[in-house]
Amino acid sequence: MSALRVAALALLLAGCSPTPPPPGVRGDTLRGKIAVTQYACNSCHMIPGVPGSKVYVGRPLGELAKTRVMAGALPTDQANVMRWIQDPQSIDPNTAMPNMGVSERDARDISAYLLGL
Ligand code: HEC
Repeated sequence: MSALRVAALALLLAGCSPTPPPPGVRGDTLRGKIAVTQYACNSCHMIPGVPGSKVYVGRPLGELAKTRVMAGALPTDQANVMRWIQDPQSIDPNTAMPNMGVSERDARDISAYLLGL
């Protein structure tokens, strides 16, 4: 790819993601925001910026980045949030949250969105 093409692509991608993820977090927050509705995370969680249900099974996710501990036991970092999103039972075998077959890339982008709220 030519340098010009790379620059154009970078601009295009930057244009798609108006909110950069917080420092130390990788991923595309806009893709993540779209993905939480594709996987219907918003049917169980209140997620700021995303319309949802009236009754929620899981806790609101707007404060996720501020909570130091998630799922009762783990530090709230991107690796743990991604692991939870992809396979919650590997962390808490009794959780009511289903394994939704979230891909690695989608889990990264969703975690970037949630950690940026
Ligand atoms: C069927 C309902 C349901 C769906 C759908 C669901 N969750 Fe959950 N989620 C839960 C429950 C229940 C818990 C654990 C207890 C709680 O948070 O109240 C949980 C916990 C979490 C946690 C940990 C919160 C914490 O502070 O410990 C995160 C992060 C999370 N879910 C993200 C997601 C994402 C992202 C999706 C979509 C890919 C999703 N959830 C889909 C029910 C659901």
